[in-house]
Amino acid sequence: MNSVGDMMRCLGLLLVVFVVIQEECLASSIHRRKKREDTDFECPKPDGLFADPETCKKFYTCAGNYPFAQNCPSSLYFDDVRKFCTRKTKQLVCGPVETPEVEPTEPPTPDPLSAPPCDTSACVLPDCFCSSDGTLIPGGLEPTETPQMILLSFDGAVNSLNFDLYKKLLTKTRTNPNGCPIKGTFFVSHEYNSHFHVQKFYSEGHEIAIHSISNRSPEEWWAKGSYEDYAEEMVGQREILHKFANISRDSLLGMRVPYLHPGGNAMMNVAYDYDFVYDSSIIAPMSYTPIWPYTLDYKIPHKCMQGTCPTRSFPGLWEIPLNTLFSNDGTGGMCSLADQCVFQENDDESVEQFLKDNFNRHYNVNRAPLGLYFHVNWFNDRNKTAVLLNFIDDIRTKHRDVWFVTMQELVSWMRNPTKVSNLNSFAPWACEKRESSCNIPKNCEVQLHLDGYVETRYMQTCAKCPVKYPWVGNFEGAAEGVKIMDLTRDAEPESDS
Ligand SMILES: *[C@@H]1O[C@H](CO)[C@@H](O)[C@H](O)[C@H]1NC(C)=O
Ligand SMILES: *[C@@H]1O[C@H](CO)[C@@H](O)[C@H](O)[C@H]1NC(C)=O
Repeated sequence: MNSVGDMMRCLGLLLVVFVVIQEECLASSIHRRKKREDTDFECPKPDGLFADPETCKKFYTCAGNYPFAQNCPSSLYFDDVRKFCTRKTKQLVCGPVETPEVEPTEPPTPDPLSAPPCDTSACVLPDCFCSSDGTLIPGGLEPTETPQMILLSFDGAVNSLNFDLYKKLLTKTRTNPNGCPIKGTFFVSHEYNSHFHVQKFYSEGHEIAIHSISNRSPEEWWAKGSYEDYAEEMVGQREILHKFANISRDSLLGMRVPYLHPGGNAMMNVAYDYDFVYDSSIIAPMSYTPIWPYTLDYKIPHKCMQGTCPTRSFPGLWEIPLNTLFSNDGTGGMCSLADQCVFQENDDESVEQFLKDNFNRHYNVNRAPLGLYFHVNWFNDRNKTAVLLNFIDDIRTKHRDVWFVTMQELVSWMRNPTKVSNLNSFAPWACEKRESSCNIPKNCEVQLHLDGYVETRYMQTCAKCPVKYPWVGNFEGAAEGVKIMDLTRDAEPESDS
């Protein structure tokens, strides 16, 4: 099924031994074309999910007009209005639904500030990186000279309920080729978070990043959030982690929006103004050739799947996009966070094949970093955890050019693309020795003041207990809250007013 990859390999080979290989390539592409017609499904639109006209158990994922047949997990049916597999209820809508041809409402006058397309002559490392379709390796490296970076990330609060589950994966004995333990990135939200446990992961070399204070619902709130909302939620959470997990602000450099509903230019303006180094919230569409991270100097080099991507220019701010994961035979669903993939048969073999397919697609094509992004639910499933651990140990033993790095380590590499052969002495990837957390944390019982009511929250920290539960508009947890925006105004020179 790897038609693009195969084609590319074919073309490469064609140049070398034209006559002999040509036949083989033609044969295999004809074979594939046949297979393609077998599905007999025409994509109504180039991209998206579409119901099978014959059966409610099947649907198609179209990517660039190419249909991938998918089956719903047993006992579930595809709903063409809501576009996912669901149980059989009265509301279930089977079969294709005519979608009125809604022309995207173009703004009457194009935004004069919208980012221009990638200009490789002006965009140079270390502070700028782009390529016209987002798939090129930085530094002009060949795939074989490029490390296959794997990004493990964990979204949400960290606490005593999930610390041991994550520790099954992040052990000291699982190491990178330079002998240092593998590393991951925690996008931490505040509610129910234990700063004691966050500080422990940080001291072991993992990266702590920002996932907001409230992680609030409804999900769409985040797509419409204002500049001030994002400043309070994201910069506020950075202050909370700084104060209660004793992590320097200079180490809290990344953010990811809750539910992956990005807040467009408002969100990115906050990231830019408040000196975040990267964002990792933008989904890249399903594609055989995955996308490399890029800076937001220029227009995003792929389709915006979420509808609310930034459109302006944010020079030097890195985007680490979430490449859509899928298995070659469609049994692993399609997802940007690994734990959200719905497997057709929830057996170990499907999960293993899903991980392998995604790894191979990255490793054998352009070595774009492979993101394996999780919530804790993956680790609550013993079988899935065991499959993941086996998969990781398997590729670690088979490949000496695979590295499990944090997002900051990825950015350091992007800024200074270094060949596989020189990585054992690549300073940004050296083992990390950091101040450890206290051994016995304080278990603070504090009140969370919400609109019109008060709830008790417990918060573990090595620092002093706050007076109130730190929250949006009161990141210090003081008797009287101070807003992030007010702080900034105070810091501005008097002459501004
Ligand atoms: C916070 O971290 C610094 C080093 O970064 C250390 O010197 C200090 O003792 C730590 N404070 C607490 C309360 O752990
Ligand atoms: C879960 O793991 C157990 C123990 O390895 C195995 O016997 C069982 O078949 C697995 N379940 C599935 C659905 O694969």
